[in-house]
Amino acid sequence: MINRIDSKFLLWGLFLLQLFLIGAILHFSIISGPVRETAESGIKFISSDGGREYLSPPRESSREIVIKELGNYTRTFAETAFVNHLTRQPLVCFREGTIAESDGSVGVDLNDTEDVRCRCHPGWHGVDCGQPEVIWRAFMAARIPFNFTLSHTGRHRVIYLIQSSVASLQVLEIQLMELLDVVELFVVCDLMEMMTIKSSSVLSSHRQRVLLMRHKDCSPQNMYQHLLMHLPKSVSLRDNDVILFSPLDGIFNRRAITYMKWYENWPQPARFRLKYNVYGFFWQHPDNTVVSGVASRASTFRDYPQESLNRALTVDKAAMIIGDLNHYGGWLCKFCGQPIDIVKRLEYEFEHEHYAFGDSNPKTIDVSYVQSLVTKGFFVDGQLKLNKVQRFGDRYYTPKYVEQNSWNFDNIITNIFAHWEDDSDDEYL
Ligand SMILES: *[C@@H]1O[C@H](CO)[C@@H](O)[C@H](O)[C@H]1NC(C)=O
Ligand SMILES: *[C@@H]1O[C@H](CO)[C@@H](O)[C@H](O)[C@H]1NC(C)=O
Ligand SMILES: *[C@@H]1O[C@H](CO)[C@@H](O)[C@H](O)[C@H]1NC(C)=O
Repeated sequence: MINRIDSKFLLWGLFLLQLFLIGAILHFSIISGPVRETAESGIKFISSDGGREYLSPPRESSREIVIKELGNYTRTFAETAFVNHLTRQPLVCFREGTIAESDGSVGVDLNDTEDVRCRCHPGWHGVDCGQPEVIWRAFMAARIPFNFTLSHTGRHRVIYLIQSSVASLQVLEIQLMELLDVVELFVVCDLMEMMTIKSSSVLSSHRQRVLLMRHKDCSPQNMYQHLLMHLPKSVSLRDNDVILFSPLDGIFNRRAITYMKWYENWPQPARFRLKYNVYGFFWQHPDNTVVSGVASRASTFRDYPQESLNRALTVDKAAMIIGDLNHYGGWLCKFCGQPIDIVKRLEYEFEHEHYAFGDSNPKTIDVSYVQSLVTKGFFVDGQLKLNKVQRFGDRYYTPKYVEQNSWNFDNIITNIFAHWEDDSDDEYL
């Protein structure tokens, strides 16, 4: 009897030992991961789940794209009992920009000698308080007078072409969620050709509004072509649809895009001056801002899509640039993500020669190399010093979605690694 129990234990023991060994082997092969080395440069990239890259993405069953128009006029604007003398129409106020009275009605300024106007919150302008600071300043800078007769005759559908990659999923979530109640259709293009609807829970929960494509060249021209080919007949493009394009890492200011959804009177093509962050919202590139992205109505591209898109993106003098050195048209959060994704991005950029390292010393680009760059605030070349951004008191520190879901974006809101190094210096981060 005792013997039988002993041998049972022995067998169980051997079995468990075997499981442990298998586990250990799997564990270590995952940790070490594949190493890729570029022959001439002597630069090694180590990304722990790089093995996945060689599998081709599974085919997706075709999804039905459904465009449900967003935006409710009565929830966005409030009509008042007053008549605007100039337009001889009832005064209408943009709710978000207008001060609410204690009884819930919108505030109206009757003291203005020229005309009745809505009472605006700070940072909002115009008779109806519909111009956010960033749009108001763009009009001023371009010396374009407002034409209020033209203002909100109707809402526009917004179609957003986003350049992305499987190593940029965290920023993709922000790009989508920040504009979820403004943009009807997202066209997401993955440069690394790996992304599926299942790559991100945000993509899969909004699958009916996402056209996904994988292409080595996610140019706006290719994305627009893809849009024309894959848009169901029932939702074909309209001349007054707003087409937005943002390159990798670009996040638009939601107030600016909301303005484009509701107003007619902006000149096009409009481009954006984005705050240039690196690794997270806590570092800013010494260039401070970049002009990037474009917005225009679909009619601009209808007849000669290729040529007109080229022109919209190459004109030095866009009809209007949204954003300046103090009020940004959005963010370019370059290399924002977990260190492992930054390694993957660098590997991609290096292979495609978007990027070269400053010195030719052999280097190993792995998670710890990236972590040290993030901690110390050096650009990916290891040479250019980044500027620290103070979090508090900066109205443009992060997009709204990031602020409201901060638990999910720790790694790009605060320089988490820096805390280990110098606590005193970082109390504001
Ligand atoms: C818009 O919102 C108002 C107030 O919330 C609601 O009564 C109305 O039905 C909505 N309109 C549409 C078309 O959804
Ligand atoms: C308008 O002027 C009156 C008298 O000067 C003042 O009491 C009131 O607060 C003003 N209203 C607004 C909306 O500024
Ligand atoms: C504003 O737009 C309306 C409608 O297109 C036009 O009739 C009017 O002349 C414009 N006013 C100015 C000042 O440009």
